[in-house]
Amino acid sequence: MALLEIDNLHLAMRSFDGEAQVLNGISLSVDKGQVWGLVGETGCGKSVTGLSVARLLASPPARYFGGAIRFDGQDLMQADEAAMRRLRGRRIGMIFQDPTTNLNPVFRIGEQMVDVALHAGATDPAILGLPQGAPRRARLAAARQLAIRMLDRVGIPKAVDRVDDYPHQFSGGMRQRVLIAMALIGKPDLLIADEPTTALDVSVQAQILQLLYDLVGEEGLAVLLITHNLGVVAQICSHVAVMYAGNIVESGDVRSVFKQPGHPYTRALLAAVPTVQSVRGALQDLPGAVPDLIHPPPGCRFAPRCALATPACAQALPAPVPVGPLHSVSCLAVGAAA
Ligand SMILES: Nc1ncnc2c1ncn2[C@@H]1O[C@H](COP(=O)(O)OP(=O)(O)OP(=O)(O)O)[C@@H](O)[C@H]1O
Ligand SMILES: [Mg+2]
Repeated sequence: MALLEIDNLHLAMRSFDGEAQVLNGISLSVDKGQVWGLVGETGCGKSVTGLSVARLLASPPARYFGGAIRFDGQDLMQADEAAMRRLRGRRIGMIFQDPTTNLNPVFRIGEQMVDVALHAGATDPAILGLPQGAPRRARLAAARQLAIRMLDRVGIPKAVDRVDDYPHQFSGGMRQRVLIAMALIGKPDLLIADEPTTALDVSVQAQILQLLYDLVGEEGLAVLLITHNLGVVAQICSHVAVMYAGNIVESGDVRSVFKQPGHPYTRALLAAVPTVQSVRGALQDLPGAVPDLIHPPPGCRFAPRCALATPACAQALPAPVPVGPLHSVSCLAVGAAA
């Protein structure tokens, strides 16, 4: 059994104009030690997938209408808020899109980290290195020590002096390190990181990715890394799932998917990545736009933009076809060739 199993998940989002079919039956299974990249154009459902795993989407507007999410065998669709609160920050760590809104500007860095450490310690006192029922003062002191150790671990120089700083005294890259430290302080089994480096310049981005990569190796945790940056995926992911308009159109080990992309959408995404060697002006863009999810096209949602589309593509959603030991593609053209 995988650590995280998303099974045929369907999600609609109510909006002023109607209900958008935001997740159209996605399935994904993430094992311990695997780093899954979730990629795709803006609006394809990456963030709502991560938020669904953490059960952080308010209902309404969110409405789940099929499928399951299991974490370590526990059915998260049936879990109540108290059960989810025990998992979040403890077994499931999270870093969300937009670091500037994730730290509270009026509290010191250390105070915010201590809060998370105490919360994690409430379900598992071993995280603070204390026995069950230790007095509050001992828990506070241990949480502060843990906060300092974690800041040190993510490379904040002189952590013991910086722990009482406010967020505005940290640079963007340092704040992002703090968010990683906070996400990892409860020793999670799964880390959901939504665009953790998008707001940073490339040199800081490389440092943060290296840090995440090292921590994953040391802790053996599973990661769902949400990004639209295929370069980031190539650098640190073991597996990748490509999303288009609420569907996973291709998934597998990074090597196989990047070397032999099977879905026309994956090929278009890879062709659009600039490289240092690219001839100027040679970048291929993908004609057309992501479909309206309130009235999505029938069958394969990519068909209206696809050069290989046939009338059969509009009939039904193509099922995943295995094209390698770990690699599968949901496309009729690939199915016909296989
Ligand atoms: N709170 C919400 N209310 C209504 N619709 C929403 C809400 N959040 C997301 N959506 C819709 O769900 C779809 C998927 O959004 P999501 O944020 O998951 O995209 P994404 O793949 O993360 O994009 P990006 O790369 O821009 O972060 C979009 O059509 C979006 O408009
Ligand atoms: Mg997003």
